[in-house]
Amino acid sequence: MPQSPAWNALLAHVNAHQGVTMGDFFTADSERFTRFSTAVPGMLLDYSKNQITEQTLGLLGDLARERDVEGQRDAMFAGAVINRTEDRAVLHTALRGGPTADFRANGAPVSGDVAGVLSRMQTFTEAVHAGEVCGTTGKPFRDVVAVGIGGSHLGPEMAVLALKNPATDALNVHFVSNVDGHDVLQVLVGLNPETTLVLVASKTFTTQETMTNAATVRSWITDILGADAVAQHFVALSSNGPAVTAFGIDQDRMFPFWDWVGGRYSLWSAIGLPIALAAGWPQFDALLTGARDMDNHFKSAPMAKNLPILLALTGIWNINFLGHTCLAVLPYDQRLKRLPAFLQQLDMESNGKSVRQDGTPLDVATGPVVFGEPGTNGQHAFYQLLHQGPQKVPADFIAVANPGHGLKEHHDQLLANCLAQSQALMQGRTLEQAKGNPHRVFSGNRPSNTLVLDKLDAHTLGQLIALYEHKVFVQGAIWGINSFDQWGVELGKEMAGSLLQALSQTTDPDGVDGSTEGLLNTLNTWRE
Ligand code: F6P
Repeated sequence: MPQSPAWNALLAHVNAHQGVTMGDFFTADSERFTRFSTAVPGMLLDYSKNQITEQTLGLLGDLARERDVEGQRDAMFAGAVINRTEDRAVLHTALRGGPTADFRANGAPVSGDVAGVLSRMQTFTEAVHAGEVCGTTGKPFRDVVAVGIGGSHLGPEMAVLALKNPATDALNVHFVSNVDGHDVLQVLVGLNPETTLVLVASKTFTTQETMTNAATVRSWITDILGADAVAQHFVALSSNGPAVTAFGIDQDRMFPFWDWVGGRYSLWSAIGLPIALAAGWPQFDALLTGARDMDNHFKSAPMAKNLPILLALTGIWNINFLGHTCLAVLPYDQRLKRLPAFLQQLDMESNGKSVRQDGTPLDVATGPVVFGEPGTNGQHAFYQLLHQGPQKVPADFIAVANPGHGLKEHHDQLLANCLAQSQALMQGRTLEQAKGNPHRVFSGNRPSNTLVLDKLDAHTLGQLIALYEHKVFVQGAIWGINSFDQWGVELGKEMAGSLLQALSQTTDPDGVDGSTEGLLNTLNTWRE
């Protein structure tokens, strides 16, 4: 790739740019914000605080054309088998295609099946809310325990928290993900099995953590209500019918999805049932509509106005040409407190790859290290490094114009902090301004994007998530990698299998290194 004309042109361009700062760009161009921001209804992206010019964007656009990003995008929407290492289409967009959609996975129609499952999810959600679907003792469900991990957890949890409204939410939805017994025990304490509905969310229905937690919750239910209670108190969200049956959940309590839905792209599928149960069906529907609107924007907007493409291209510029290989996600809205964790999986599991689709090695950096916290909390934790660390960490700020509360003073402070941080990162403070004190110098010229949402609701949340899904897609397309497999999670899982035996049966482990053996012996000696 570095040999490609567009890549080489960008390498030459970055060298020509040395010494020019973003501050210089703003001084020279009073229209820079207008030139380097773009909006769709309800959402604006300001990317003017990146070290880019019109020429940079033009060259990045050349790179996207050279990599045929638009062709690769169209192939994804058309249901081509673009996840080649797993021989699958990639069609999470079909899940939110709406009533008139006609998506095809490798030629086979899928929209009818999608509509059928959505309709069953709606009926079930409304019946639970009405108390028509209830527990074995006839009491309505008050709590939902959603058991799942990774893509079967992070998206639903993030969305449930983002849309939470204690005044109107019909049910309390809790999540159990970690195999650490503290997780499940902390959730179950205080809950009543009689009024608790359990969702087991797992595409494969074989994930060790989820199946262990599900079995523990099943015992918690059946110890009090008897073995027959599984039928009324358990629901499965999965692609693996036989495993669901073997667990003891009837097929009519199983909401399926398909192999063309990747785990981290699955919150729009049956995996989203916790969102519908918490916030209500109209909210889940609005979430799908918001994502669909972003899909349509991604498909039709020209590159220079296309939010996912612009977000992706500024990221490529920062990672590959400026050498900034991290990304801080900084939502200035407490309701988005799990967005960084969700985007961490979305981006790092998708694009943390070192070989291209064809297996040849890549010699450039790929997906960034993603982390973050809501503002203003993060300011009092890791922003020190963002401002004065020797490495530059690009940041995505997310601000919401109209909060979901009436505490104006709080919101004014929140927004002022959000604006101040990106301004400080860019402007910095010189030694002279710091009155000669080197400890108070800020080098500045640190890039960031700012997304402004009119308000945070189900529709804008859907837009926001789909925006990042497509950003990750575009970057993967430019690097030529498969963003939709995750072989990197396999090796550790395999090794955990043999170490589990060594721990639980204190057998001699096979083929472990000296450090692991020493740690194993210590744990086995210290465990009571
Ligand atoms: O650990 C990787 C992973 O396969 C993720 O990609 C996935 O979201 C998660 O595990 C959970 O998988 P499942 O839904 O099959 O339980």
